[in-house]
Amino acid sequence: MKIGTIDLGERPLFLAPMEDVTDIGFRKMCKRFGAAMVYTEFVSADAIIRSIKSTLSKMVIDDGERPVGIQIYGRDVASMVEAAKIVEQVKPDVIDINFGCPVKKVANKGAGSGMLKNIPLLLEITREVVKAVNVPVTVKTRLGWDHDHLIITDLAEQLQDCGIQALTIHGRTRAQMYTGEADWTLIGEVKKNPRIHIPIIGNGDVTSVEDAREKFDRYGVDAVMIGRATFGCPWLFNQSGKELSLDEKIDILEEMLRINVERIDEYRGILHTRRHLAASPIFKGISDFKQTRISMLRATKMDELLTILEECREKLKEV
Ligand SMILES: Cc1cc2nc3c(=O)[nH]c(=O)nc-3n(C[C@H](O)[C@H](O)[C@H](O)COP(=O)(O)O)c2cc1C
Repeated sequence: MKIGTIDLGERPLFLAPMEDVTDIGFRKMCKRFGAAMVYTEFVSADAIIRSIKSTLSKMVIDDGERPVGIQIYGRDVASMVEAAKIVEQVKPDVIDINFGCPVKKVANKGAGSGMLKNIPLLLEITREVVKAVNVPVTVKTRLGWDHDHLIITDLAEQLQDCGIQALTIHGRTRAQMYTGEADWTLIGEVKKNPRIHIPIIGNGDVTSVEDAREKFDRYGVDAVMIGRATFGCPWLFNQSGKELSLDEKIDILEEMLRINVERIDEYRGILHTRRHLAASPIFKGISDFKQTRISMLRATKMDELLTILEECREKLKEV
């Protein structure tokens, strides 16, 4: 499949954009293991315009992770257009617009999935952003605001008419937040619509490569995007069939930490990596891991965290 002229291969797996999760270190590792496309955390259009330092640091990308998308969100045309032009200068391969974030601080202000309550504005933003930049623009959204407004079939056509080059659909409504199960039926219907010619990327509850394969077979989507199942395990994208050793997995997590500290800063680099470490399934074998997990989550210096990881490595050898 292709987004614009970017060839992403057959049945590609994408890493979902996730706030505080898809930082540069993590994205690079997911790429190494086979993620065809990765995205930054979403960045606020207003914060981009105001050059907020922490926001700009989320837009740091690296040639080694291409193709990479920078995702933006906002609630009015002028700021989204201005932000998109600033983002374009950072040279992402794609600019993705977020119309799916359900959290109150975003949606209640009309941004993210809040935009699903104002389709004319959603479409105007999309149309104007597409016009304002030369880089391919894509959209990520949900099935609709709630079960009584499952608008995605019409919305997909309208978004395509605005000139977007791919559409990601998370198979939930805003009202569902992250509860219940993702409904892939409607995603499949959008894909089957003969009027739709842009790639459709399906998203929601995929937990493994096998699971993704099943989604390709059943729903015919062009790509599958994986989010939460990747926490602390960028090797989830590995399709080689060769399982990594625990030693190799710890090496990867340490490398992620180093990249983040170097490319973001020690404080934030650690904050992000800690989250992955605490969620990683690899430490499950350690007896009484609870205490180690607490130490991981409290660590504030890179050396401290590396020491804890090395202790984990030793403990896992005993398991
Ligand atoms: C911690 C977290 C942060 C997220 N941040 C974003 C975001 O910045 N942009 C976005 O489009 N979606 C975001 N999402 C939604 C995911 O991209 C994805 O659509 C959702 O988790 C469903 O996919 P999954 O079941 O594979 O996790 C976030 C989800 C989580 C759990």
